[in-house]
Amino acid sequence: MRAAEPGFEGGSAPRQTSALSSVAHPFRPPHAEECFCPEPARIPQTFAYDGDIRGKAMDGIQCAAQVAPQRSTQYSSLTRDLAPLELQAFSPGLTPLEWLHLGGIDYLGFAAAADEPFLQDAELLATFATVSGFFQRREEPGAHETWLRPLPRAYPYFVSSDMAYTRRYKGKTNEVFTQFLLNVAKFASDFRTVPWRQLRVFDPLCGGGTTLFLALALGADVAGVERDIKDAETTAAFVEQYATENKIPLKAHAERLRNAGKGRRWLFQLGKSETRKLILATGDTRESPHLAAALGRPHLVVADFPYGVQHLGPIEELATEALPVWASMLKPGGALAFSWDATRFGREKMAPLVKAAGLKVVERPPYDRMVHRVDRVIKRRDVMVALPPALPPEPVP
Ligand SMILES: C[S@@+](CC[C@H](N)C(=O)[O-])C[C@H]1O[C@@H](n2cnc3c(N)ncnc32)[C@H](O)[C@@H]1O
Repeated sequence: MRAAEPGFEGGSAPRQTSALSSVAHPFRPPHAEECFCPEPARIPQTFAYDGDIRGKAMDGIQCAAQVAPQRSTQYSSLTRDLAPLELQAFSPGLTPLEWLHLGGIDYLGFAAAADEPFLQDAELLATFATVSGFFQRREEPGAHETWLRPLPRAYPYFVSSDMAYTRRYKGKTNEVFTQFLLNVAKFASDFRTVPWRQLRVFDPLCGGGTTLFLALALGADVAGVERDIKDAETTAAFVEQYATENKIPLKAHAERLRNAGKGRRWLFQLGKSETRKLILATGDTRESPHLAAALGRPHLVVADFPYGVQHLGPIEELATEALPVWASMLKPGGALAFSWDATRFGREKMAPLVKAAGLKVVERPPYDRMVHRVDRVIKRRDVMVALPPALPPEPVP
């Protein structure tokens, strides 16, 4: 990571690798047997209707999605920008969406069809990045009141997503945005209904590991490649420290990489009865197939390109050379999602590089309109989701 570059998320907060400082966030996991996480579930702060409306006509029911509250103004506008996109990426049927402002909190109102099973899916409802709670909503005629009934949400996290939230360092990709990237990649892939616990996620520009830790929390096996040796080393040290402090069983194997200078690779196995892989390697992302081979073919490749590059050269060069490598690793049916500073290198320039890598850019709304402002420096960050070519149909015997 280029620590001094402007425009990185994470601002000027000092780098620290301690798991001790906890930061409030919307993914407090509930207690669950498989979960090594100590925090209780968070109850959405809202005026809840507790009358029994279960089983009542679901036809065109009115719902509200609470936009995940953020501490900083910068990130509250980020979640506001991304929430409608995430909901529509999940289900194009969730339009039209309308903004509601209830009790000082932003909600997205929508009507769900009777056959919208996701409203019953507590695990799915718990994993939206930009939404901290879903509600069935009822307007009290004449009283100008809105009643909200929380829809159950709970997720059997493998580790607490605090693992991603506790570290603060320059260059960190915002956690909500990273979860958004993970989700839109999954929603666009053939694995949209497959549990995270059965997926492999690869971040070929993994920095301090935000993608790896969030995907691990959801239950995926994960791997990352980072060329900055110091970043990879502090990330590996953090994994060991976090596991010790949170009493997560950990097997760690560190190895020197041949033919790669001072290259190193860490193979972590977390858990006991149920285990997950976390692989971290130092090196150039163009070497990813070799560096991350122990993961197996990833279902999802998720990355946030480096920022602060003054000239177009590096981002164009990196995309031109790395995209075909990442494409070659993807499991058929999988998806690649990445973000980049599109201020001077827009979507119209990035899309041909993705196509040249043999991938198909997902162009349908809302995937074609995920460009958003991050801060005063990065005024246009864009997101591109791309798919490998479909496999030819099986020959009929
Ligand atoms: C925006 S940062 C990713 C931050 C990460 N998502 C996090 O939250 O910690 C991009 C990362 O890509 C790394 N990088 C840039 N070029 C690379 C290359 N050719 N090979 C491997 N990593 C590279 C940078 O060192 C930087 O850490």
